[in-house]
Formats: sequence, C-alpha cells, structure tokens
Amino acid sequence: MSTYRIAVIPGDGIGKEVVPASLEALEATAARFGLRLELTGFGFASAEYWQRHGTMLPDDWEATLRGFDAILFGAVGWPAVVPDHISLWGSLLRFRRTFDQYVNLRPCRLMPGVRSPLAGRAPGDIDFLVVRENTEGEYSSVGGRIFEGTERETVLQETVMTRVGVDRVLRYAYELADRRPKRHLTSATKSNGIAISMPYWDERVAAMGESFPGVRVDRFHIDALAAEFVLHPDRFDVVVASNLFGDILSDLGPACTGTLGIAPSANINPDRTAPSLFEPVHGSAPDIAGRGIANPIGQIWCASMMLEHLGHPAAAAHLLGAVEDVLALGPGEAPLTPDLHGTGTTAELGHAVAERVRER
Ligand code: NAI
Ligand code: MG
Repeated sequence: MSTYRIAVIPGDGIGKEVVPASLEALEATAARFGLRLELTGFGFASAEYWQRHGTMLPDDWEATLRGFDAILFGAVGWPAVVPDHISLWGSLLRFRRTFDQYVNLRPCRLMPGVRSPLAGRAPGDIDFLVVRENTEGEYSSVGGRIFEGTERETVLQETVMTRVGVDRVLRYAYELADRRPKRHLTSATKSNGIAISMPYWDERVAAMGESFPGVRVDRFHIDALAAEFVLHPDRFDVVVASNLFGDILSDLGPACTGTLGIAPSANINPDRTAPSLFEPVHGSAPDIAGRGIANPIGQIWCASMMLEHLGHPAAAAHLLGAVEDVLALGPGEAPLTPDLHGTGTTAELGHAVAERVRER
C-alpha cells in the first residue's frame, strides 16, 4: 500500500469550511484505490495565526512542509485583520517560490449541471488546461523609480525570461499535450508588440516542439487569444503562457465555465524536488464565511488534481467523476450550494460527493 503524507492548511474564511468538507471524499477515494493518506493539519497561513504571532508562518515552516508529498490548501486572506499583501506575500507566494512550483495549472471544463455565461455551450464543449509560468517573466522585482516627484519622474520594470525558466514550463506543457487525445498546444504570445522577450518565447516554443513531433502547435497574440476564449473555447486543449498572460487567461478560462466555487488550481513542482500545492481558485470569501454555504467542489477537484500528481490518475478520475455525477443531478436531486441554485450546505455537498465515490 502506498502511503502519502499530506499537509492540510485550511487558512482563512471559507477555507476552514471547504477543506474539511473535501476530506471525506478524498479519504473515500483513497480507501477505494488502496492508498494510505497521512493528513496533518496546520493552523498557520491564517489571520488567526498572524494575530497571535505577528507573522503568517513559523520560522521553521520550510523544514516542516518540505517533508510532505503534497499540500492541500484552502484560501488565505482576512482583510479586516491583515492587509492582503501581507497575508499573500507572507504565505502563499513564499510557498510557490521556495518550493519552485513553476507551473500553475488550471483546468477549464464546463461541468454537467453548471451554466456557462457563454450562450449555447454544453458540457463537453469546453475542456482545456491553462499552464501558466509561475516564477519569472513579467512579475519581476527588477526595476525602480528615479527622479521621484519631479517632472523627470521615471519608472522601469523589467520582464525576466531565462532559458531554464521558459524551457521547463514549455516542456511541461508539451508533455501534457502529448498525453491528451487532441495533442494540441496553443502558445500565448505578443511578439508583434513586445519585440524582445516574446519573440524569444516563440523561438523556445519552436525549439521545444522539435522534441514533440506529435503535438500540433499554434500561437495567438494575447489580445486575440482572450477573444478566442470567449468566442471559440472549444478550440483549445492545452494553453501555455508567460506569468502575466497566464494570470489573465487562468481567470478568464474558468470564468467561461461558470461559478468560481468549482474552479481548482495546482502549483506544481514537476521535478518533485519539493511538495506541490493544490488550492481552489477562489479566496476566503468573507461575505459568506461562517454560514456553511460555500461550495466545496473547487476544493474537492483540487484533491483530485493532487491524486493525479501523486501518480494515481485512475483515483483522480474516479473522484472527479463522482463530482460530475453529483453536479449532473441538479439542485432538485443533490444538495447543491446556493451558488449552484440549490439549498445544500458545504458539509452536505461534500458528503454527497463522498457517497458517490463509494457507490460508483
Ligand atoms: P473570493 O474568491 O474570496 O470571493 C469572490 C466572490 O465569490 C464572493 O462573493 C464569494 O462569496 C464568492 N465565492 C468564492 N468562493 C466561493 C465558494 N466556494 N462558494 C460560493 N461562493 C464563493 O475573492 P475576494 O472576495 O476578492 O477575496 C477575499 C479574500 O480572499 C481576500 O483576502 C483575498 O486576498 C483572498 N484571496 C485569496 C486567494 C488565495 O488564497 N489563493 C485567492 C483570491 C483571493
Ligand atoms: Mg489571478
């Protein structure tokens, strides 16, 4: 029996509701597939921890978390107590950087029973993955201001693309596309306007493509690509993008597939030199926190992505299939949460998915 050590960090707000609600379905899946999970909960990366200690993380957080096989994370942020830049930079962004989670992966799939804001789209029409570079690119701290407050006030911020950084995220995207039936990769660029770094990105896309002759590649300028996501989301399979472009696409993609409450994401270290982190796209939702009505599906889908990363695709597919089955029942038959037009609670929906995991 394989044993995995999982760090479970609920964080703030609805993170503390959706994380517990996801665990029953995760554990039911593990039991079904003969996997042993050792779950260890941590209270840091939260406003409560910050109030008590004045920091978001304990000094030894890195040594503590490094020993785990994966991190299941809820959401961090409670602006009434801690400013958002402190909570985010003091926790999640430190995990991503220190653990070199250089791929941010977001599935965009229209699920049964969920209405797309795009007219005329049915489940199956939208099913693609956005691969975002997560460590360099446009989000660099290289730059500065000079002549502040004068007429010559000057501000510079540089994009940083390294061959190592670009190639590793492209390799991940190509490998992913190569494993999928459509074997289609789309690259986001803007080499007509950003005339130094983006032609370099394009060059590396072409160079990496030589190792993946079975993958069909196309590229779109980011502006046209954003429009294409809305007009023809059915044309995509795997989409790879730099940090900034990927940030935008990885919100736009899930937005095209319905509620924020079901969208998952993974921060992955593909080289497995440190644990990867799985977190829903949504935040701590202070407006509904404490009422037991948050949708736990995004968190459960994260658990499925985690199983996939741990090398158990059948278990991952089984769990996601249970989610699809429950969503397909609709608000009349399943305890769907209010964002899905039902009257169910977080715990009830989590339980319904777990039951379905055991039955199917
Ligand atoms: P949010 O995602 O928390 O909420 C946006 C809206 O979506 C709210 O109306 C909320 O009620 C709704 N919503 C979100 N998740 C839901 C769910 N599972 N079920 C039903 N409805 C759901 O974004 P917001 O309000 O901008 O940020 C709140 C806090 O969360 C801030 O402190 C922010 O910094 C933090 N945040 C943290 C993230 C993370 O941990 N990765 C990501 C985004 C925001
Ligand atoms: Mg974003």
